[in-house]
Amino acid sequence: MIVARDGVLFIGNFRAEELALEFGTPLYVYDREVMVENYVRLRTAVRYSNTEILYSCKANSNAEILKVFRELGAGLDAVSPWEVLLGVKVGFEPRNILFTGNNVSEDELRFVKDLGAMVNIDSIQQLRRYGRLYPGTEVSVRINPGFGVGHHQKVVTGGASKFGVPLSQVKELLEVARNYDLKIVGLHAHLGSGILSPEPIVTVARTLLQLILSTGLTDVEFVDVGGGLGIPYREDEKPLDVEVLGSELTKLFEEFSERYGRRVRLVLEPGRYLVGNAGVLLTKVVDIKEIPLDGGGRKVFVGTDTGMNHLIRPALYDAYHRVVPVGKVGAEARILADVVGNICESGDVLAKDRLLPELKEEDILAIMDVGAYGYSMTSNYNLRPRPAEVMVFGSEVKLIRRRETFEDLVRTMTGLSI
Ligand SMILES: Cc1ncc(COP(=O)(O)O)c(C=O)c1O
Repeated sequence: MIVARDGVLFIGNFRAEELALEFGTPLYVYDREVMVENYVRLRTAVRYSNTEILYSCKANSNAEILKVFRELGAGLDAVSPWEVLLGVKVGFEPRNILFTGNNVSEDELRFVKDLGAMVNIDSIQQLRRYGRLYPGTEVSVRINPGFGVGHHQKVVTGGASKFGVPLSQVKELLEVARNYDLKIVGLHAHLGSGILSPEPIVTVARTLLQLILSTGLTDVEFVDVGGGLGIPYREDEKPLDVEVLGSELTKLFEEFSERYGRRVRLVLEPGRYLVGNAGVLLTKVVDIKEIPLDGGGRKVFVGTDTGMNHLIRPALYDAYHRVVPVGKVGAEARILADVVGNICESGDVLAKDRLLPELKEEDILAIMDVGAYGYSMTSNYNLRPRPAEVMVFGSEVKLIRRRETFEDLVRTMTGLSI
């Protein structure tokens, strides 16, 4: 549980401040219990009996996090060959891994196929290559349903984007599949990321099911309606109603299965929904700068020991993350400030125009809801190390990735002996 009690932020049974002191800052902290709750809530909301959840590990690919979902019975959604490899190494059955690559080379295709994962084809050209290499085998296909949704234009994947096979090209796709004697066992679509209402996901499910009937595909075993399930980031945002989503999908799949004569598997592949609110980034205030503004007034910059290299979502997507002073949660707001990082870019702003209590150097701030697309999008920009990651489970805490060292960062350079 990540909650404030008496003005203090707790992660599991730990004070956030205690963790910052023990492991140093900046520090990614995840609460295992929150991930389990998210998974169970979603899984139980979908009553259709043949349902599978694939954890989309692009959201957060720490091995310990993958293990949490493997232990809960999830499969894995992987978008790169090494995500597949990691999945195999942490113990996912290859048949429970779906590889949805985009612009996949022949070497990559072979690599993934050798590992035993199911390949989800992204283009007609890729299907030709696959057919040439593996005629007579089973395959899944990513359909682009012609519309998409997302919290930002950059994460909308349906519609006029580079992803999937458009509905208008399905006829050609089926011809290619026939030519190579391929058995299409899966149909897939992913609309985008950060969807806060059930409708688009239900609509895409309907589109895929109708496609099966209209094309006369007879071998379909699973229909993957993608991930993209959103979480509220802002104080006034409402969570996605997974009960409604679950019951609508259940109804659709029950009806379809009766018509089709087989209980096709309903697959969901969420990332953010499972891990987003389970992570916080703890950072230390290292500088506070007040500058006079030209037309009068002052601007406050709260400078921290992290930055866009550790959390790029605000800079990349104008994303909003709540910022909580861990020892003064709910204290009276006294300053209007930008919370900024230590990277040499003026876009290195983690939170803009926030009302915060009076802060001083050494105070610890928690940047909330960073479990998804936080660490997994980090970089070494400015030659700064990535933070450590820890996972809390009640009264236990475990280091799940150490902080990088200078040696880690220069190890692959050939012009330096260390
Ligand atoms: C193919 C695919 N599946 C699943 C996801 C997971 O998205 P989210 O984390 O929003 O659930 C993504 C993310 O973009 C994706 O590209």
